Amino acid sequence: MEHVGAIVQFFESVAQRYDRLNRFLSFFSDIGWRKRLIQTLPKDHHLQLLDLATGTGEVLLSATKVKGLIGKSIGVDISPAMLSQASQKTRELKDPHIGFACADGLNLAFADQSFDAVTIAFGIRNMPDTKKALDEVYRVLRPGGHLAILEFSLPECAYVRCLYFVYLRYAVPFLGGVFTGNWKAYRYLQQSIERFPYGNAFCQILEESGFRNITAKSVDCGIVTIYTASK
Ligand SMILES: C[S@@+](CC[C@H](N)C(=O)[O-])C[C@H]1O[C@@H](n2cnc3c(N)ncnc32)[C@H](O)[C@@H]1O
Repeated sequence: MEHVGAIVQFFESVAQRYDRLNRFLSFFSDIGWRKRLIQTLPKDHHLQLLDLATGTGEVLLSATKVKGLIGKSIGVDISPAMLSQASQKTRELKDPHIGFACADGLNLAFADQSFDAVTIAFGIRNMPDTKKALDEVYRVLRPGGHLAILEFSLPECAYVRCLYFVYLRYAVPFLGGVFTGNWKAYRYLQQSIERFPYGNAFCQILEESGFRNITAKSVDCGIVTIYTASK
């Protein structure tokens, strides 16, 4: 398991090129994946939303495009460089409802039951202790609150999985390394995806943290999975 400091370093070093690389490496699918994540949230509620591991703020930006979806909302991340990109992008929006804070997802400075909903896109896999992170999310969600998680998984179909492994193990570290100069970061991406407990195994951890109404929907042949649950 990677040390937290090393994970922060990875994201600090790729922050400026993170969005462009995401588009490129996912063939622009990441935009649609986040949209689908947001579609799982209840509409017209002006939700007080926490976007955990917000990175460059892509989930919050996408959520602001759905009228009436979010009220006062906050993006939290452990990497100042990623948050700086998020702030730059949202500054142009001039939306007073959105803020950002630098914090560790395992130790949030919010009171119990502070949020109507929590989203985590490609973030839970990076937390050093998945269960502890979910316990913390459970704590800050109000009773009946919604959790929506988007995370990489592995395709079920053997042929697709085989092709995906070639892409993930060789193309991603190579392209990521060439574009950012940080070969280690994109090797970490591949390793973290392969060892993350996805599907039923992840649903089990959600259940152990107290969540109910748990669903897992695999998207694009299982390359990503969207999990929803409520408190
Ligand atoms: C792959 S990025 C995802 C960013 C964004 N959610 C998106 O959809 O593009 C993962 C993010 O998790 C953050 N992160 C990693 N460990 C964290 C922790 N313990 N607490 C908060 N954020 C963390 C990283 O700094 C990084 O910005």
